[in-house]
Amino acid sequence: MYRILQKDRLHETVERMVIHAPFVARKCEPGQFVMVRIEEGGERIPLTIADYDREKESVTIIYQVVGYSTRLLAEKEEGDFISDFAGPLGRPVDLEPKKRVLGIGGGVGAAPLYPQIRRMKELGAEVDVILGGRTHSFIILEEEFRAFSGEVLLATNDGSAGTKGFVTDVLKQLLAEGREYDEVICIGPLPMMKAVVDITKEKGIPTGVSLNPIMIDGTGMCGGCRVTVGGETMFACVDGPDFDGLLVDFDECIRRQGMYKDMEEHICLIGREG
Ligand code: FAD
Ligand code: FES
Ligand code: MG
Repeated sequence: MYRILQKDRLHETVERMVIHAPFVARKCEPGQFVMVRIEEGGERIPLTIADYDREKESVTIIYQVVGYSTRLLAEKEEGDFISDFAGPLGRPVDLEPKKRVLGIGGGVGAAPLYPQIRRMKELGAEVDVILGGRTHSFIILEEEFRAFSGEVLLATNDGSAGTKGFVTDVLKQLLAEGREYDEVICIGPLPMMKAVVDITKEKGIPTGVSLNPIMIDGTGMCGGCRVTVGGETMFACVDGPDFDGLLVDFDECIRRQGMYKDMEEHICLIGREG
């Protein structure tokens, strides 16, 4: 059992939890994730390690409440326990020292982006960050990024903060101004990562992305998380989840992510009158 040390809300539907998990805290590196089972007998869901503290033996997760399991997790409070917290899983992301790095985070994608950009800063890079969201309130970790980044630029669909539009509009603007980056790290919804890669590929800028296909076991056994990278079949849970974005077959990822949509969106008729 894993104790919830701290819980706070970052947005109406996004929460952060600090969990006492000594083994994971001792071993984990940026880019890795955990498989969380909230209660005995429940389903296991993958969540990125958003931060960790080796001394306090704690691991931070940031999750958006989107369905049954994340709702169950959100019902837990400080001092409560969660049943399983298996990890660290996946490959730590390969972060080489670079001069100038641009981080791009879409929605809750800012959470897995954070430890990677912070590590880049620790490795001596100058870092800028673009955060995107539907409105300003959907943008998370803005202050946390500001604490160590050069510039933190925002893009919102409704113009409530920063540029009215998408993160790609800000990216295009930065590149048009002549900004040069040795690497872009982009984490967010698949269509956003695809659109960013369309731009960076043209400019020849190495771009790391993090893929989040459906994962069942998280250990390379079930094949659920199959992706194609550079024409080769990979399993995101053991070969990723971070990959060279310039090589990812995003169209296949988008197709596979929608595979269970019909089942997810079924409307339960039990208990309805008539
Ligand atoms: P459901 O109603 O069951 O599903 C809602 C949506 O969540 C689905 O449409 C699907 O896109 C996704 N999903 C559902 N089950 C899974 C599954 N087993 N594996 C992957 N995706 C699933 N979300 C966060 O909010 N924060 C994170 O840090 C985070 N990190 C992730 C890291 C990885 C490596 C992966 C693969 C996914 C990550 N996700 C993260 C997505 C998160 O796992 C899903 O939001 C969660 O499983 C939803 O569960 P649910 O029962 O609440 O919703
Ligand atoms: Fe089963 Fe990756 S989740 S192979
Ligand atoms: Mg679920």
